[in-house]
Amino acid sequence: MLDRLDQQPPDALLALIKLYAADTRDDKIDLGVGVYRTGQGDTPVFEAIKAAERKLVEEQDSKAYLGPEGDMGFVNALMPHVFGDNPTRGGRIEGMQTPGGTGAVRLALAMAAKAGVARVHMGTPSWPNHAQIIADLGLQMVAFPHATADGTADVDALLKAIADAGELDAVLLHGCCHNPTGIDYSNDQWDAIAAALANSPVLPIIDLAYQGLGNGMEEDAYGMRRVLDAVPEALVAYSCDKNFGLYRDRVGAFYVMARNPQELAVAMSNGASLARANWSMPPDHGAAAVRLVLRDAALTAKWQDELDTMRARMRQVRATLADAGMAGAVDLAPLGGQNGMFSVLPLTKEQILALREDHGIYMAGSGRINAAGLHMGNIEKFVAALAAVTG
Ligand code: LMR
Repeated sequence: MLDRLDQQPPDALLALIKLYAADTRDDKIDLGVGVYRTGQGDTPVFEAIKAAERKLVEEQDSKAYLGPEGDMGFVNALMPHVFGDNPTRGGRIEGMQTPGGTGAVRLALAMAAKAGVARVHMGTPSWPNHAQIIADLGLQMVAFPHATADGTADVDALLKAIADAGELDAVLLHGCCHNPTGIDYSNDQWDAIAAALANSPVLPIIDLAYQGLGNGMEEDAYGMRRVLDAVPEALVAYSCDKNFGLYRDRVGAFYVMARNPQELAVAMSNGASLARANWSMPPDHGAAAVRLVLRDAALTAKWQDELDTMRARMRQVRATLADAGMAGAVDLAPLGGQNGMFSVLPLTKEQILALREDHGIYMAGSGRINAAGLHMGNIEKFVAALAAVTG
């Protein structure tokens, strides 16, 4: 049997973690996988989460199963932060916990497929795992360009995709901090997107994996909330892996907005059975910690403060890069206006390899950099290396 399988390449992004760890150079720079780093290059556990974990150790009286929907206290506590005022839109939104944002994307696309969706429109480039999950579910991906040549979001391409889409189509959108480009739709563009979706049968699936890392928790939710206000049905994949720093604990949530509470209940029963068939139940620990943070005003304030610090540091890195202007042939100025962890630099495969081999600088093969890997102690080296390999 097994000799019928073809060898699969390792996930290129995750393979970088090992390559970087094996590099013995002291001044190596990791701009690969999307984890936050402090100005000292660390990825610490949030203090708010540490405090919640201590509480959890004290208070948790059982580790018995919760069910396929996971910790509903977590799912519900998150909702006002994600959806704002009227978080259930009149009993039309419910959620369930998932293993990370990936689990939520998987459930969203699997539910769409089960409901009859055949094609998923998606701006490219996108997070590589989006296309992989779409293909794994036997769905057809229809690509449109996410950004124009001048580095702004290509909203016309999205509006055309929506206008051309039919009954069995979905569109997968990044809510904020576009991965990999960092190029987000403006609020005006989101208004136009929401209006287009209101007049279209296409099902919006919104991946919100970086809320709070762009311009703030409220600001980063603008587009998703406008879409939800405009359409009858939508699916939202959410991740707490970045904004609570819980990466390896895999903390995500999948939310469904339906036309009415009856259809919502049916949809959620499908969510539960899909979860059961995929992973049975999500891991508990990280979600329980988030619940404890969000149910405690002091811990919530502490978390928000820590998130603000993260965002401010990434903004500072972006501003410093933008000020550097040209690094050889690469114009860094646009990075100042982009959001979140990621930006894509126009580099060839050879230049990316030279950065790794000659300078110890690790980035995705697409030219995507994680700005959080830079700090005042290594930016100069990075800009000089860019100039050296492209100049
Ligand atoms: C990334 O894009 O670096 C993150 O979302 C991590 C991942 O799972 O790929």
